[in-house]
Parts: sequence; C-alpha cells; structure tokens
Amino acid sequence: MTTSAWARLNDLAEDFEPDLRAWFAEDPDRVASSTHDVADLHVDLSKSLLHGEVLDVLLELAEQTGLVARRDAMFAGEHINVTEDRAVLHTALRLPETASLNVDGQDVVHDVHEVLGRVYAFADQVRSGEWTGVTGERIRTVVNIGIGGSDLGPVMAYEALAAYRQEGLECRFISNIDPTDAATTLAGLDPASTLFIVSSKTFGTLETMTNARLCRSWLLEHLPDDADRDQAVAKHFVAVSTALDKVADFGIDPANAFGFWDWVGGRYSMDSAIGTSLVVAIGPERFAELLAGFHAVDEHFRRAPLELNVPVLMGLLNVWYTNFLGAQTHAVLPYSQLLHRFPAYLQQLTMESNGKGVRWDGAEVTADTGEVFWGEPGTNGQHAFYQLIHQGTRLIPADFIAFAEPSFELKDGDTDVHELFLANFFAQTRALAFGKTAEEVRADGTTDEVVVAARTFTGNRPTASIMAPALTPSVLGQLVALYEHITFVEGAVWGIDSFDQWGVELGKKLAQEVTPALSGDAEALAAQDASTQSLISYYRAHR
Ligand code: F6P
Repeated sequence: MTTSAWARLNDLAEDFEPDLRAWFAEDPDRVASSTHDVADLHVDLSKSLLHGEVLDVLLELAEQTGLVARRDAMFAGEHINVTEDRAVLHTALRLPETASLNVDGQDVVHDVHEVLGRVYAFADQVRSGEWTGVTGERIRTVVNIGIGGSDLGPVMAYEALAAYRQEGLECRFISNIDPTDAATTLAGLDPASTLFIVSSKTFGTLETMTNARLCRSWLLEHLPDDADRDQAVAKHFVAVSTALDKVADFGIDPANAFGFWDWVGGRYSMDSAIGTSLVVAIGPERFAELLAGFHAVDEHFRRAPLELNVPVLMGLLNVWYTNFLGAQTHAVLPYSQLLHRFPAYLQQLTMESNGKGVRWDGAEVTADTGEVFWGEPGTNGQHAFYQLIHQGTRLIPADFIAFAEPSFELKDGDTDVHELFLANFFAQTRALAFGKTAEEVRADGTTDEVVVAARTFTGNRPTASIMAPALTPSVLGQLVALYEHITFVEGAVWGIDSFDQWGVELGKKLAQEVTPALSGDAEALAAQDASTQSLISYYRAHR
C-alpha cells in the first residue's frame, strides 16, 4: 500500500487513543453527524472509532485507490472480474423493468425481467395449486438443492421472511453432501406433494448434483406404485442454472429451467432465479419488494457523495479497524431471531469475496485483506461469546441490527417482550462504547480491588447500529445490498478481485483424486501424503 493516505493512517493509528466518552462529551453533534438514513435503514456510526482526521484520510484513501471509478465500472458492466474476464452485474438483477443496460451487446434488463416473469408465473402456479405432482396432488413442500450461493441466500431469506410465507407451503433446503442432510430433510415428506428445485450456477457442483440424484432416486422409489414414473422428474423437478444445456441431461424439462448469467456471482445471486424457492414461499409481489429494496441501496451507493455514502463509510471503517487498529474479525449481531442465518450468509459474501492474497494485477497484496465474519442473534450471543467482546484483549468491531416492530407478536400478560429484547440491544451497544470505570464499580459498593479490576469495562469497543422499522422484504433487500457494497468498497481499497473464488478449487480437485482411495484403490492411496494415508487407513479400519 503506497498511497499517501495509507501512510498517514499508519501515523494516526500509532497515537490513536480511543475515548468515546470524551468524544461524545466534546461534540454534541457527534450522533447527528454520524447517523445516516438510507431508504428504510437508520445507521448510527457514532459509536465507531472515528475521531479527528481519521475519516477525512479514509475518504482520501478511497479517492487514491480509485474507488469511484471502480464502482462506476461495475455498474456499467465492465469486466472488473479480471481473472474470469466477466462483468459483475448483480445490481442489474434489481433494475426496474423500464431501465435498460447494454452489456456486451445485450440488454441485460430485458433478459432479467423475462426470466423473472417466468419465475413469477411458476411460483404462482405452485402457490395456487395449479401446478400438481405426477399423481395430481398439489405441492406442499419445495426442496431447494444447492450449496454456497445457491443455498445460503435463499435459506437466509426464507427464515428472515417467515412472517410472509404462504401457509401450507413449506420450503426445505439440502446443501451438504453429507448424506444425512438429504436423509433428515426428506424424512417425513410425501413425494407426491414435494417439488425439487436444483439450484446450481454451473450445474456441475459435486454436492448439488449428488444430492439431486439422491432426491431423484428417493422420489422414484417412494411415489405410489401407480404413479407415472416417466413423467415424475418433469413434474417434480425444476432447475435454476446458467448451464441450461446440462439441465436437460439430468431429465429436467428445459421449459422448467430458469436461467441466469455468468455476470452474477454465486454469492451475489439470491435476487436472481436462485431465489425461486423464496418466490414460491413469499410470492412474486413480496419478492418484487425485496428487489426494490436492493435497488434503493444500489442507487444510494452509486450516487451519494462519499462522505455520506453508508456502504463507503462502513467499508472504510472496516479497513481502518482491520489494517490499522489490528482487528481480525467482525461480529454481526442481529437482534432478530429470524436473521439467524444472516451471519452465515455474510460469511460467504464477505470471505469468499475478500479472502485474497493477490491483487487484481497479479501482484501480492502488502496488507491484510478480508475479515473473519461471524455472529449469532442477540440475545443468545450475549450468553455465549459477548464476554470476550466486552472484556477480552482483542478488538472486535460489531454490527448490531434491530427492528422497531417485531415480525411476530406474542404477549406475556402486560409485558411487551419485544421491548425487553430491544432493551438488550440498546444496553449492549452502550456498554461496549462507554464501559464502566473502576470508580463506577467502587461507587456500586465493590470494595475488593481484585473484583473491581474484574468488573471494570474499558469501553471503546466499536459498534455500528443498523435499525429499520420492521424486517420486511424490502428491508432485507436493503440490508443485503448494504453488505454487498461494503464488501465491494473493502475489495476496491485492497486492490483485489472480489468476484472470483479460486481458493475453493484446490480442495475440490483433491477430493476427486482421493475418493478412490477411500474404497480401497491402492494407487490412489499411495499418491496421498503420509498424514492423509494414515487418516484414510483409520477410516477404512472403522467402517
Ligand atoms: O464454493 C464455491 C462456489 O463456486 C460458490 O462460489 C458457489 O456459490 C457455490 O460453489 C455453488 O456453485 P454452483 O451454484 O455452481 O453449484
């Protein structure tokens, strides 16, 4: 990192002594100037570790690393995914039908809405009962078979939008090649009323194709004896893929296949046809709201000045924490049980995107890239790992996410349980920021100095608070787009290609090579290293 801004940030970090109590006291406008409203998202960055000239220099860093040009290149459909020579256009998936965007000689908005129309028509048929299985039964369970980006987005959103699901229509998800995933997911299902969606960008992923075959066998084996097996796959399987030629080979009617394009990365695809299971669950109208939510944040990212641009500010903050203040990880703590898969979703989005050791020109990076994203919904996390965030020796920036309205309301007499829940969110961010001094602990009556030390909180633990009126489809789209663009900003500053994922290839190849050794192929076993040979021998001795 050779920019002057990087060098200046290094200097600033050396003498940096966070003091949120003092910063709040000396600047009555701190909250107002650090709080931003983007569509329905209310983002308070006042409890972050920004002070003095840090933000200005971070914005200079954005300028010096060409963030704006790179952002504009993405929106314009330039091939910014250099190692795969592809455009990066997930933002086109949520452009309104009236827009147009020509990429490589093709109006992609037209293509997007053509597929969306087909997905919506299919979902309507399933939801209304017009689509029936081979025995004439309506569909009651939709099983999405996919992994990575072809699973995490749909399952996260299905869980998040539980309040919007159609009654009597359930979605389940199979991702892991561990056969227990398929076995436990299929348990208790009636094949006559079950529909499978095979979701795979490449339609060649080992896990997904294996699970698709497992499910096909299960279906054919368990349908009633008089069911027409020749028609069964056509009536019970649909596909989502960019490789539509491979879909027909599997036996799926190409009329029941929904395409997308190589300019949609797997981890950026939940708003493409990969979201078909979600469309079935919540309906086309709600899905359209989700897309509009994505688009609102895209527009903000594209047009807002950098100093007011929330994804830019949050991305730069993460760079500050990671590269200058020594943070290794980043917690995401939704105060919504329905967002329990959101941290897992963000893990793929952020870590597959920014876990890179070379720059986009092939040179080695000279600074740390990527953050280890992790988290659990509050308040469960409070009773598990928050101790380390509050009093441990590591810096762990944390994003808190909370909603004014609950998605479901249950009453405990006169007690508003949602208020009890939110009180925890407010209390935690406050405790992390402002801590508790030794004097305050003593003033509470603690006299033993050993206990005083143990009960003291340093504070100055940075958080971002993201609130919204309610967890609606639109708000979910806004949240996901926010994190997509935060990830983009960090990747741009680090000078890496956030859109390839070569790091997952080696393991896939080695798994293929090692498979024969597990069933006794001596040559394949001999080709392994000593440790792997020993582990395989243990496996064979115990199976
Ligand atoms: O993990 C690697 C990866 O290529 C992800 O990027 C992708 O989301 C996942 O595998 C699934 O790929 P596909 O949709 O092609 O089955």
